[in-house]
Amino acid sequence: MLKVLKHPLITHKLTQLRRKKTYTKDFRHLTNEIAGLMAYEITVDIPLQEVKVETPVAECNTFQVCDEIVLVPILRAGLGMVDGILRMVPTAKVGHMGLYRNEETLDPVTYYAKFPDNLPGSIVMVLDPMLATGGSATAAIAELKSQGASNIKLVCIVGAPEGVQRVETDHPDVEIILAALDDGLNEKGYIVPGLGDAGDRLFGTK
Ligand code: PRP
Ligand code: URA
Repeated sequence: MLKVLKHPLITHKLTQLRRKKTYTKDFRHLTNEIAGLMAYEITVDIPLQEVKVETPVAECNTFQVCDEIVLVPILRAGLGMVDGILRMVPTAKVGHMGLYRNEETLDPVTYYAKFPDNLPGSIVMVLDPMLATGGSATAAIAELKSQGASNIKLVCIVGAPEGVQRVETDHPDVEIILAALDDGLNEKGYIVPGLGDAGDRLFGTK
């Protein structure tokens, strides 16, 4: 269930995002732009329902999106993707999943979880720019499932094969959408070539 989006604009913006010399303001802007373009591609086949509207000229049979969409950014870095997607899907609700990786063990540590109550029946997009070992994504998805979510898409900008494998093993029902699948992880658990620490680059903390 892995989809790597090959849209030229996404690839072009990701090239700028990867560049060491791209500083916080541009990094934040590009992350949101990429997330918005990814959302546009991901939602290409979401279900529609028939509706009738009055135009200024006549009555018209047309369609609107029928499922609710919930965005769940994994804090911190996932926050950088929210506004870009909300620009495309302004009616989406937003939950928050607070997780960080223990820098030595690389295991995820949960510190916050708050979701809207419409998880069952909604399309839930878990957002995180980085899928490294897959520990954080797996933990977030498990938490969402325990709260009733069943239609979950994991949306990450850069992924490592190790993380994809982990999520596919633990959550085979979850679709994984990436803008790029990189080579692997280094000894510190960073994606290679990747783009460095997404949270630090987004929020200027290093
Ligand atoms: C980063 C990233 C992911 C996680 C990926 O967050 O944003 O959440 O690491 O790594 P994994 O796939 O090996 O779990 P980090 O733990 O650095 O927290 P932060 O966003 O608060 O900086
Ligand atoms: N988290 C990041 O922010 N970057 C990586 O390369 C791996 C985990």
